[in-house]
Amino acid sequence: MTTAPQGHVTWQSPSNIAIVKYWGKKAQQIPMNPSLSMTLSRSVTHTSVTYRPKQAGETLYSFSFHQKAKESFSPKLESFFGHVLDKYPQLGHYHFEVQSSNSFPHSAGIASSASAMSALALCIEEIALALAGTRSTFSPIGASELSRLGSGSAVRSLHPQWAVWGKTDALPGSDDHFASPLVKVDNVFTDFCDTILIVDSSQKDVSSTAGHRLMDNHPYKEGRLQQAHRHIRLAIDAIGTGNLPLFIEVCEEEALSLHALMMSSHPGYLLMKPATLQIMDKVRRFRDRTGIAVAFTLDAGPNVHLLYPRAQRHDVLEWIHAELLPLCENNRWIDDHMGHGPTKTR
Ligand code: DP6
Repeated sequence: MTTAPQGHVTWQSPSNIAIVKYWGKKAQQIPMNPSLSMTLSRSVTHTSVTYRPKQAGETLYSFSFHQKAKESFSPKLESFFGHVLDKYPQLGHYHFEVQSSNSFPHSAGIASSASAMSALALCIEEIALALAGTRSTFSPIGASELSRLGSGSAVRSLHPQWAVWGKTDALPGSDDHFASPLVKVDNVFTDFCDTILIVDSSQKDVSSTAGHRLMDNHPYKEGRLQQAHRHIRLAIDAIGTGNLPLFIEVCEEEALSLHALMMSSHPGYLLMKPATLQIMDKVRRFRDRTGIAVAFTLDAGPNVHLLYPRAQRHDVLEWIHAELLPLCENNRWIDDHMGHGPTKTR
C-alpha cells in the first residue's frame, strides 16, 4: 500500500570534525583515502521537506536557508537532486520545498555541508521510501548513499561518536561507499569536547570541492595516500586503547598535512591566518607546560578546533579564555562536544 503523495518530513543532523582527513576523491564521491571523524552535538542543521505532486512547469525543488535564498548552495543542491533522480526516478513527479537552518551562527566560518547534506539526504530517503510504501524499512544508515553523493563528509555524520569512512585494513567491514562506527572505544574517548575558535568568519576563497580536485595531479599524492592509511591505523588504535599522546600526534599531523597539501597544490593556496598559527603554537606550549591532553585540528579554513576529554574541561576553558580568545574574531568561539548522530524531529 502506498502513502498519500504529499507530506512533510524533518530531520536534524550534526556536523563532524575529521581527525584523519578526507582529501581527494574519485568519481561518485568515492574518497581517495579513508577518513575518521568525531560527530558533533550542537553544530547541527535542521531541515524540513514538504513534498507534493509537481504541477505543470514547476521546478523539482525550492530551497531556503533561514528563510532566505542561498545562492552559494545551488551547485551542491543541483548535483544532489540529480543523484536523487538517478536513484529514485519516480521522485521526478514531485515538488520538494526544502527549508533549512543551522544552529551555529551563519557567519561562523564553520563548514556546514556535512550537517546540511546529511539532514537533506535523510529527509529525501525517508520520503522516497514513504512514497514506495516501504517506510518501515527506513534507517538513518539507509541515507548513506545520498549523503555521500551530497557531500563526502556528510556520510560520517550519520553515526554517533567516532565514524570511519573509506576502506581500511584497520577496520573490518569498512567501505568507500558508507561510513562505519568505531565500536572499540576506550573510556577516555567516550566524552570528548570540541571547542571551535573562530579566527575568521569570512567566506573562504577556495571551496573544499575545488581543493579535492587539486589532489588529482598533486605532486605529493602517493605520499599522502600512504600517510592517510598509516594515520587511520594509528588513530583507530589510539581510540581503542586510550592512547591520548598517539591520538594527539596523529590529529595534529593530519591538520598540518591538510594545509601543507593546499599550499603545495597547483595553484597553491593558503587558508590559515596569522592567528591560526599563533593558536597552534600556543596549544603545543600549553601542553608541554601542563601535560594536559589537548589537540588542535583544522578543517578547510582558518578556524581552530581544540579536542580534549571532558575531564580536562575546566583547565582548558580557563586557559582558552585567558590566552586564546583574544586571538579570535570578536572573541568568538563555539562550545561543542561529541554527539549521538541525527534525530528525526517530526
Ligand atoms: C577538509 O565533504 O566538504 O573537511 O565531498 O566535495 O562535499 P565534498 O567535500 P567535503 O570535504 C571535507 C574536507 C575536510 C576534511 C574532512 O571532513 O574529512
